[in-house]
Amino acid sequence: MDGNGRWAKKRHLPRVMGHRRGVEAVREIVRAAGDLGLEALTLYAFSSENWKRPPDEVGDLMGLLKRFIIADLEEFRANGVRLKVIGRYKDLAPDIVALIDDAIEKTAHNTRTTLAVALNYGGQDELVRAAKAMAQRIADGSLSPENADADALAAGLDTADMPPLDLLIRTSGEQRLSNFLLWQCAYAELWFTETLWPDFTPAHLAEAMADFAARERRFGGR
Ligand code: FPP
Repeated sequence: MDGNGRWAKKRHLPRVMGHRRGVEAVREIVRAAGDLGLEALTLYAFSSENWKRPPDEVGDLMGLLKRFIIADLEEFRANGVRLKVIGRYKDLAPDIVALIDDAIEKTAHNTRTTLAVALNYGGQDELVRAAKAMAQRIADGSLSPENADADALAAGLDTADMPPLDLLIRTSGEQRLSNFLLWQCAYAELWFTETLWPDFTPAHLAEAMADFAARERRFGGR
């Protein structure tokens, strides 16, 4: 969800205003996701590298996240959205962790769309944790080394209960993965747009999905 800072700068506003508008865009996209038939939507809200930002900005982002969960929980429940969090979110402040756990529990039975929010998430960190979990299973004898394959590793990823990643969208003209869903991107289609995240609308999402639908996916075959 790149481009919040630049959106604010273009308008001579503080960065936090860009993040606030970013949350409005999140809200619209989550609302649209179910209508567009998305089974799962993952949003990169805070990376394990985002702690390097000034403390004020980190505080603003955490505040926005809190308010988002509090304000939108009822709407998730009404719209069949199951909330999930990927990343080391248990390292966030205890009040945020409690809010997240409560929201996860209250939306656990919803089946229309899974909204996964990546918090304190890094793709390499996720892979290291999955590799450790697999190594542990080998060490305790519940997995034989011969069966230590891609499926066994993927079972330890934060996304283990989610469908395969089909489409990755990056906004604001950046063309990098930035440590997002590295394993899951193996056969994902990538879609880049110059649009800054606060300006990203359901129409952009529909455009990306139409483009995706027209692509031929071969998964390494011919
Ligand atoms: C990147 O833009 C955006 C972020 C690091 C934060 C994204 C967070 C939100 C939209 C709000 C919280 C999320 C939820 C799910 C409620 P940037 O700041 O790097 O912008 P720039 O590239 O223009 O500087």
